[in-house]
Amino acid sequence: MVSPVSLSLILSFSFLFLSHSQSSPSELDILLDIKSSLDPQKRFLTSWTPDSDPCSPGSFDGVACDGNRRVANISLQGMGLTGTIPPSIGLLTSLTGLYLHFNSLTGQIPKDISNLPFLADLYLNVNNLSGEIPPQIGDLDNLQVLQLCYNKLSGSIPTQLGSLNKITVLALQYNQLSGAIPASLGDIRTLTRLDLSFNDLFGPVPVKLAGAPLLEVLDIRNNSFSGFVPSGLKRLNNGFHYANNHGLCGDGFTDLKPCTGSNEPNLNRPDPTNPNTFRTTNDVKPESADLQRSNCSNKMAGVHQKPQSPHL
Ligand SMILES: *[C@@H]1O[C@H](CO)[C@@H](O)[C@H](O)[C@H]1NC(C)=O
Ligand SMILES: *[C@@H]1O[C@H](CO)[C@@H](O)[C@H](O)[C@H]1NC(C)=O
Ligand SMILES: *[C@@H]1O[C@H](CO)[C@@H](O)[C@H](O)[C@H]1NC(C)=O
Ligand SMILES: *[C@@H]1O[C@H](CO)[C@@H](O)[C@H](O)[C@H]1NC(C)=O
Repeated sequence: MVSPVSLSLILSFSFLFLSHSQSSPSELDILLDIKSSLDPQKRFLTSWTPDSDPCSPGSFDGVACDGNRRVANISLQGMGLTGTIPPSIGLLTSLTGLYLHFNSLTGQIPKDISNLPFLADLYLNVNNLSGEIPPQIGDLDNLQVLQLCYNKLSGSIPTQLGSLNKITVLALQYNQLSGAIPASLGDIRTLTRLDLSFNDLFGPVPVKLAGAPLLEVLDIRNNSFSGFVPSGLKRLNNGFHYANNHGLCGDGFTDLKPCTGSNEPNLNRPDPTNPNTFRTTNDVKPESADLQRSNCSNKMAGVHQKPQSPHL
């Protein structure tokens, strides 16, 4: 006998199940939405079709699934994509790697990307992305590599990035970022490479940054930093690149003027921690400058291959 209580439980469970399956789209539907956004002219992702299985090897170019048949990696680097990154990317909750570098994507980085708890690699470098870096990226507990270099990102570097406690590479060079280096980046125990070069950053180099224990490379070239260079950065030796920051001073660094009392703090510059004092810079930098000569990072070697894709 089925009691009325258990019958009503069964009914409510099936109702939940039905309403759930109706309201949440399948990963196939999500991928098709992502396709229409990344490739609006339907020129490149021709293998992404409604009647095929995204997890079947060879059917969805650049898509790799995990053992649970959930999308784990999307590898579409160097495909010629001209669209935007849709918020629906945040619905692929098993995603561990998103490789969209070397395309011509525009628009903003959707904050929904922070809904991906297993995301370890986020490569959006060498596109034409604009707007600010979503502070919510700091919620990505498993992020190890964040490549945003060579875009048109503006605004300040979110303090929240200091919460990325597994990140090893943070590459933000060649954007239009302004403001200060958040001292919170010095909290990251795993950080080995931090590249902030060729932006519009200013203010001091936080002393705390020198405390990041695994830091090997710090590149701050061609910004407007000023004040004391923390002496702790000497341990980086040739890994510390600081040329073309005219306000910097330091003792024992080649090419830096020695510090005098007037170097600390520099009151002639706006307060970099106050967003209202950011320069509204209209001087456009050459985006594609020297792509061949300057690698986005060590991990960029061989970007035109598709190492993530299992069926290649
Ligand atoms: C996703 O990419 C990562 C990093 O390259 C790799 O370790 C992992 O095996 C890939 N997963 C699948 C399902 O291809
Ligand atoms: C970004 O846009 C500029 C101007 O339209 C263009 O010259 C450049 O090639 C684009 N860069 C990329 C990586 O698409
Ligand atoms: C970097 O700074 C130097 C010195 O100010 C300048 O000559 C050079 O053009 C800058 N490079 C870029 C790509 O802005
Ligand atoms: C860029 O990477 C390639 C391949 O790893 C290397 O040979 C080259 O020296 C690198 N260039 C720079 C400027 O780091």
